[in-house]
Amino acid sequence: MGNGKVVFVTGAARGIGKEICLEMAKEGYDISLNYRTKTDDIEDLKKQIESYGVRCAIVQGDVASYEECEKMVNQTVEELGKIDILVNNAGITKDGLLLRMSKEDFTNVVDVNLVGTFNVTRNVIPLMVKQRSGRIISIASVVGIAGNAGQTNYSASKAGIIGFTKSLAKEVASRNILVNAIAPGFVATDMTKVLSDDVKENINTMIPLKRIGTPNDIAKAVKFLASEDSSYITGQVLHVDGGMLM
Ligand code: NAI
Repeated sequence: MGNGKVVFVTGAARGIGKEICLEMAKEGYDISLNYRTKTDDIEDLKKQIESYGVRCAIVQGDVASYEECEKMVNQTVEELGKIDILVNNAGITKDGLLLRMSKEDFTNVVDVNLVGTFNVTRNVIPLMVKQRSGRIISIASVVGIAGNAGQTNYSASKAGIIGFTKSLAKEVASRNILVNAIAPGFVATDMTKVLSDDVKENINTMIPLKRIGTPNDIAKAVKFLASEDSSYITGQVLHVDGGMLM
């Protein structure tokens, strides 16, 4: 049975975004899921979501395009009536040392991760202001706080998301809109499966809880930040990283 609230999740076709959709559907939220490139899995995911007795809209588009974000938000409202919770999850990496990084690899990552977060949020916030409630949850990264060699583009985009989150939290607190970020550590997804075994070994020594995170670890944190249980929390960065960064 639905709980009457609508969540819009970007980059939801796989990995953390997909898990967020499933966890929120289980909780009774209607889901609008964004994906960029067509995969056969998307209809299966919709069916899986609907099996929890909630509604599901599929909105295709690139978060790096402002116009496409405007369309995706409008389509969500047409199909599901409103947006109560926005989860900015879409993200990419293009790693490399700065000495060799092209301008394109820098701007592409910033355009998707940071400008994409702006593009979606900018189109959702008027709706939330009007309804005088809302939650914005953006997926940052430990790397946006601690930095990481080979990821100047990615960590700049994630640090940007943190600054964006804190400023927006101050702007819209009076409208009962709560804005927070989650900083995952290492999570086992397609994004991290390219890491070598050496790096993965190292990860275990860096993480006090001695395991790589699962998409569900992140989805549970999203669920908390979307719920009434977090109604006195805004402008925060919740670290979900097994204690990697303290
Ligand atoms: P993933 O690569 O499995 O999934 C990312 C999703 O975003 C994909 O479905 C992709 O198609 C989508 N996407 C990429 N560019 C897009 C665009 N321009 N418009 C719309 N969708 C787009 O990665 P994962 O691991 O699930 O990452 C999800 C989020 O979590 C990302 O923001 C990532 O930076 C962040 N994160 C991941 C960590 C990890 O260890 N896996 C650690 C910290 C943060």
